[in-house]
Amino acid sequence: MPVSLVVLAAGQGTRMNSDLPKVLHKVAGAPLLHHALQAGAALGPARVVVVAGHGAEAVAAAARAWDETCEIVVQQQQLGTAHAVAQAAPVLAGVGGDCVVLYGDTPFIRPETLEAMLAARAHHHVVVLGFDARDPGRYGRLLTQGEVLERIVEFKDATDEERTITLCNSGVICTDTATLLSLVAEVGNANASGEYYLTDIVGLARRRGFSAGVVICDEAETMGVNTRAQLAEAEAAFQTRARAEALENGVTLTAPETVFLALDTVIGRDAIIGPNVIFGPGVTIESGAEIKAFCHLEGCHVSRGADVGPFARLRPGAELAEHVHVGNFVEIKNAILDEGVKVGHLSYIGDADIGMGSNIGAGTVTCNYDGVGKHHTRIGRRVFVGSGTMLVAPVTLGDDALTGSGSVITEDVPAEAVALGRARQVVKPGLAPKLFERYRAAKAAKQKDAS
Ligand code: UD1
Ligand code: CA
Repeated sequence: MPVSLVVLAAGQGTRMNSDLPKVLHKVAGAPLLHHALQAGAALGPARVVVVAGHGAEAVAAAARAWDETCEIVVQQQQLGTAHAVAQAAPVLAGVGGDCVVLYGDTPFIRPETLEAMLAARAHHHVVVLGFDARDPGRYGRLLTQGEVLERIVEFKDATDEERTITLCNSGVICTDTATLLSLVAEVGNANASGEYYLTDIVGLARRRGFSAGVVICDEAETMGVNTRAQLAEAEAAFQTRARAEALENGVTLTAPETVFLALDTVIGRDAIIGPNVIFGPGVTIESGAEIKAFCHLEGCHVSRGADVGPFARLRPGAELAEHVHVGNFVEIKNAILDEGVKVGHLSYIGDADIGMGSNIGAGTVTCNYDGVGKHHTRIGRRVFVGSGTMLVAPVTLGDDALTGSGSVITEDVPAEAVALGRARQVVKPGLAPKLFERYRAAKAAKQKDAS
């Protein structure tokens, strides 16, 4: 049977104190919404519906960036989580199968947990994901009788006795789609918040004689983000887990607590990552590559046997083939470096491709931007670019060419040619001591004037 996924993401997140909708705040370089969508994607849903409201356009764009087939419905007024689910009714009517509702501000639900919930549907009409809270705080409480879930009571509406319950609602609910839609249509708002609570569907289901049950997960999975402090906690929790996973997968992290990974970072076995390396989104590091200390990487690919850093920056579109060497204070953006290319020191390579075995001297700059447009630099194979060469793009250097140090290259260089683009040197014998004598005299005169 097909599974539908509904992700609630309409809330503003008042307690974030932000202009940005809550679900667009990032953990591990990705909006909270992407974390929720990734967890849900593990179920292979036939339909994904995102309920947007606050900042709906930006939320919709983020959802489509993740999955362009997902459907967006807009909840104009945030009248509560049941009201939010009800907005998906036009999209879900008649689709059949089960439906899993996730909250966009709860990033860490594991796929295995969602699978366990689907499996529990064999025994219950409605399955709720619960957890035993160390500090139950303001979470909704699950009221159970043995194995049966009778009702969920929101903190605001709970009696003192109910508030002592530590079994809490994570927010994830699973039931068949038709039942879900008919239950949310029945929910009222006569409660302490005047909101339509999704959590009320449990009591309503029980009244219909349906059964409801709880799947229990670890509290770490259900961590919700409502404040900046919780956002920081979520980041820390993600990093702790991602570092442990990398180590488990055979990656060497010299100082794991100083390495920051993104949601989609992929690092191959036997790669070595030095201290203080930051991974932005979209990075793949192949087996056996080495990233030395203090590098910043995003949107790039580093192949087997390549080494990067220390202190290098790889920006989106940097593609390093096998055995490429990128040294200190080098920035690379939108550039393909073929096998064995060396860019050892203090260079900027942007909008370029560099052929196999070429050597780029210290201080080389691809001058790719003329203030209006970006231009491409093409460097052939086995080219030797002298230190301090300015490559004024668009420009092409043929295979086996050489540029003299300090050249400003504005015209194409044919294969095997030497290009020199600099002023000829002038030598004046014996002038240096005379010059210094003149400087000293001038300085002495100035000091005398001042006294
Ligand atoms: C909710 C649960 C509570 C649970 C807790 C777990 C309800 C009524 N309460 O409380 O039992 O313990 O999550 O974290 O469901 N949203 C909409 N439209 C709305 C209201 C909310 O899309 O009209 C979205 C929010 O953007 C958010 C999610 O639903 O992503 C949860 O809403 P939130 O207001 O944070 O619920 P909690 O008070 O945390
Ligand atoms: Ca919440």
